[in-house]
Amino acid sequence: MSRGFYTPIRFQEVYTIYMKDSIVRKLIEEEKKRQKSVINLIPSENYCSKDALEALGSVFDNKYAEGYPKARYYGGNQVIDKIETLAQERALKLFGLKKGVWHVNVQPWSGANANLAVYLGLVPVGGKIMGMSLTSGGHLSHGQKVSITGKAWQPVLFSVDGVTETLDYEKVKQLAIQEKPNIIVAGFTAYPRVVDFKKFREIADACGAYLLVDMSHIAGLIAGRAYPSPFPYADVVTTTTHKTLRGPRAAMIFSRIDERELNKKIDKALFPGLQGGPHVSQIAGVAVALKEADSPVFKKYAKQVVKNAQTLAKSLQKKGWKIISGGTDSHLLLVDTWMGGVKNENGVGGVPGKEAEAMLEKEGIICNKNTIPNESRSPFDPSGIRLGSPAETTRGKKEKDFEKIAERIDVILRGVKIKRK
Ligand SMILES: Cc1ncc(COP(=O)(O)O)c(C=O)c1O
Repeated sequence: MSRGFYTPIRFQEVYTIYMKDSIVRKLIEEEKKRQKSVINLIPSENYCSKDALEALGSVFDNKYAEGYPKARYYGGNQVIDKIETLAQERALKLFGLKKGVWHVNVQPWSGANANLAVYLGLVPVGGKIMGMSLTSGGHLSHGQKVSITGKAWQPVLFSVDGVTETLDYEKVKQLAIQEKPNIIVAGFTAYPRVVDFKKFREIADACGAYLLVDMSHIAGLIAGRAYPSPFPYADVVTTTTHKTLRGPRAAMIFSRIDERELNKKIDKALFPGLQGGPHVSQIAGVAVALKEADSPVFKKYAKQVVKNAQTLAKSLQKKGWKIISGGTDSHLLLVDTWMGGVKNENGVGGVPGKEAEAMLEKEGIICNKNTIPNESRSPFDPSGIRLGSPAETTRGKKEKDFEKIAERIDVILRGVKIKRK
C-alpha cells in the first residue's frame, strides 16, 4: 500500500478503549488502524468527534423512551426529555429556524427511515412519490423500485439532462404536471451541483405536491453557509447527521408548523407508525455534533470541503478525466472512468467503476463505484466512481493535498494494462 504522502492531523487515535472483551476490542482497534491508514474519499462518510462518540456510548443507551418529550409511554424520562429537547433546540438554531414556525423530530434511526416516515405521514399508500432516478443521483429511499418507497407508493422518476448532466427544471416541471405526484423529493446522493430549491418550489406548486428536500449529503455545507438553504422553499426537510454534518449516524425531520399539521402527521408516522423507542444515545451524540457545527470553525470547514472537492475535480480534469457535469459546487464529484477514462499510450482504457474502485483501494484510496448519467453498464459494474472531500477535510487536508490525491488517482488508474476492445 502506498502511503506517506499525507499526515492525518485530526482523528480519534487518542480515544483509547479498555473493554474486557478482547475479541471485540481487537476488531475496533483493527478498524481504527484501517481508517487511519487510508485516504477516505467516500462523500457520505466522515469522522465524528470524540465527544460525540462518548455521548453515543453513554448510559442514555440504557433507557426506553417511546413517545416524545413530556408524552412518554415509560417512566423515568426526566433527563431524556432534556436531552431530546436540547437536540431539537440546537437543530433549529443551527439552520436559522424559528421555534413555532418549524418543528424538528430528532428520533429517526437513519435517513431512509426519516424519508419513509414523511411518506407514511403525508402520502396515502399507493400515491405518487416523485424523485430522481438512481442513475442520475437519486437515493433508494426516493421511490426506487427495489425500496419499500417504490413498492408501497408509485414512483415517478426524473433524470438529469443527457447532455448537460444537470437538472433540467422545465422537463421536471412537465413531468410533475403530467403525473401529479403527491410529493416531490429534491435531494440527492450523487448530484454534484447546486440545486435550485426555488424552482422545485414552483414545480411543487404547479402540481399541488408537497416539497420534501432531502439534504442528507449537503446538511453540513448548508449549516456552514457553503451551499444554499432549502428551508425558505421546502415543506419538509430530512437529513442524515453523519455525512457533511459530521455527527454520529442518525437522522432528523424538519417540518413547517401550519394548519396542514405536517409536523403532527410525521411525528405520528415515525412513532408509533414506523419505529419503536428512540435511540437516546444517538440523539445525545447528535446534540453534541449540532453544537460543534454551530461555530466559526465549522463554517471554515464547510467552505474548505467545497474548495477541496473543486480542486480534486479540476486536477483530475486537467489530467484528462471526464468529470460529470464538468465539475462540482459541493463536496462530491463523479468521474466517468470508463468512456471518459484516460487512454494509455496504446490507446486503450479507461477502466470500469468497479475495477477503478478496487485498483484505488489496493493503493489505500477508498471510494465507491457509481452509476453516471446515460449509464451504459450495470449498477453492479457501472461506468464511474464517486469521490468526496468531507472526511479528508476533517483530517486537515487542503487544496495542495487534494492536488496530490488527484495525481495519485491518475497514476493508479492509468496504470491499467488490461487490453480492451
Ligand atoms: C440523500 C440520502 N438520503 C437518505 C440516505 C439514507 O441514509 P441512511 O443510510 O442513514 O438510511 C442517504 C444515504 O446515503 C442519502 O444519500
